[in-house]
Amino acid sequence: MNTIKTKMFEPVTIGAWNLKTRTAMAPMTRAFAENETGVVNDLTVEYYRKRAQDGIGLIITEGAVISPRAKGNPGVPGIYTQEQIDGWKKVTEAVHAEGGTIIAQIWHVGRASHHEIAGGLPPQAPSPIAAEGKVSRFGKPFDIPEEMTETDIAEVVNQYKQAAKNAMDAGFDGVEIHGAHGYLIDQFNSDTSNKRSDRYGGDLKQRLTFMKEVLKAVIETVGVERTLIRFSALKIDQPSYMWEDPEKAIQTFIEAFNETGVKMIHPSTMEFTKPIARGLTMHELVRCHWDGIIVGVGGLIQKQQKPPWKKASLILRRLDVRLSPTRIIWHELSGMKNLLITRRRYI
Ligand SMILES: Cc1cc2nc3c(=O)[nH]c(=O)nc-3n(C[C@H](O)[C@H](O)[C@H](O)COP(=O)(O)O)c2cc1C
Repeated sequence: MNTIKTKMFEPVTIGAWNLKTRTAMAPMTRAFAENETGVVNDLTVEYYRKRAQDGIGLIITEGAVISPRAKGNPGVPGIYTQEQIDGWKKVTEAVHAEGGTIIAQIWHVGRASHHEIAGGLPPQAPSPIAAEGKVSRFGKPFDIPEEMTETDIAEVVNQYKQAAKNAMDAGFDGVEIHGAHGYLIDQFNSDTSNKRSDRYGGDLKQRLTFMKEVLKAVIETVGVERTLIRFSALKIDQPSYMWEDPEKAIQTFIEAFNETGVKMIHPSTMEFTKPIARGLTMHELVRCHWDGIIVGVGGLIQKQQKPPWKKASLILRRLDVRLSPTRIIWHELSGMKNLLITRRRYI
């Protein structure tokens, strides 16, 4: 057995998590929840239980919204009411019974919504600029959002904190903060959606203030060993967006992460193998500046894999056969000074 195969399927301890394997399942919105209540049901329980049974090391749930206004699509689950927490308990119990590890992705879509979805209120965002395009599975254009006041910001930071606490009450092993893909945190991070002149706006370092506040609040609640954060250049309404100076942007993000003490990050790209600066990919650039844990992702289908990864993919394919008929995304958690494998497959 080659080193990759061995490493991929060896147990590993990452933060507070003793994982069965070095694989992780990417967060994927499934919209199985009851639309009115945001409560997950037996389908969700079975969906995640199977992933644990199939040996995924770390399951990252679909985004679970932290308030009614955080919601951007019909049928997505919440993590802010007791009923929602009780629903998630069944999921975590089922995953733990299979020896799995599961963390909740906590999510606020910000401006990527519509008042008919966001509890009848206009979506919240750093600045009153509408996202481009239409709400997925709803079909109406994104609303012009309401600019958040400092009081709103403090309230939302508190909602992230409460959602993280709720996740622990629901039996999750930790949380992933969804700071990527053009949703609320990323709307603060990006100059296309953040035109503020207070301490939450300005240059990139300054725009990362909101993200840092959320991170600190979550770390304070669940601990640094149970906190993962996702970030990206790409945005749902601007899929090809790239930072003007990618390496400088990555360095600025990493400085912000270091200020908060976070140890585990999940840089998100759709193209793992695409160089973005100095001939290096996003993950390679992150590795140049970050010593901690990285979770990898981004379109590593078999034809894109370079020779060393091919054998690992054979093993993955064998494993896939046992999985239920849904799209599976595999990530490898950083191990060997942290290179990563991601694989997705439609079956
Ligand atoms: C159906 C679907 C739902 C997704 N939902 C989420 C989500 O809730 N949160 C998130 O951070 N990313 C979400 N993603 C992005 C994936 O986590 C992943 O980053 C993306 O699919 C790229 O990886 P891949 O090339 O291996 O598919 C979703 C992707 C898909 C295809």
